[in-house]
Amino acid sequence: MKKDVRKAVIAGNWKMNKTPAEATAFIEELKPLVADASCDVVICVPFVDLQNALDATKGSNIKVGAENCHWATNGAFTGEVAAPMLAEMGVEYVVIGHSERRAYFGETDETVQMRTRAAIDNGLKVILCVGEVLEQREQGITEEVVGLQTKVALGGVSKEELKNIIIAYEPVWAIGTGKTATPEQAEEVNHYIRTVIAKLYDDEAAEAITIQYGGSMNAKNAEELVGKVDVDGGLIGGASLKSADFATIVAAASK
Ligand code: PGA
Repeated sequence: MKKDVRKAVIAGNWKMNKTPAEATAFIEELKPLVADASCDVVICVPFVDLQNALDATKGSNIKVGAENCHWATNGAFTGEVAAPMLAEMGVEYVVIGHSERRAYFGETDETVQMRTRAAIDNGLKVILCVGEVLEQREQGITEEVVGLQTKVALGGVSKEELKNIIIAYEPVWAIGTGKTATPEQAEEVNHYIRTVIAKLYDDEAAEAITIQYGGSMNAKNAEELVGKVDVDGGLIGGASLKSADFATIVAAASK
């Protein structure tokens, strides 16, 4: 498996942080810091920040994503946002299946699959999150859990459509806890996910797909993590909220 066939993607996941005005100010600060990046740079922001983010990133190398989308095109789903709405705005990416959606908002492998389908059908690029909780790791069933999440989410996704999917391996025990997976742990699971893709599709698809690591990645540990052969960048929560830290991570993935 060759790492240099894939472009690393560093994506910020702001979660429920920053108002629209704060988003604009942050992006103005970030733009010069990441202008020379050789990896892809994405910021995934709250729905209400999207327009400001699109305006502020115009003409720069920073791409904009949403943090979720619904599976229906429209309808009686109070509080939800549909994929065509995001696509019409010019949003390029969407995070699907984040562990916080799974833990607090009833997201299941099936709804992750439906949302992934809607995103793909509307031309959005998906950052698909998978990951085990601590008990599952301790039970030794990480591969089973992550494998199943990946297989269900990709049900019905063709090899051609897979080009618009990034997988983010995010061990739930590492998210927002300051407890990062070791580079070896990240590599092990990322590599396993690649073998799942090879079985579902073929070796070519497995070599081409970007698989990120996420979970307490920061300015200090990023270089070692993204240096691993199967770790193609990262999905960054806390450290994406500070421009200098996020830029350091982008620089680490640009080496
Ligand atoms: P964290 O979050 O970097 O704050 O651990 C990562 C994520 O939830 O995507």
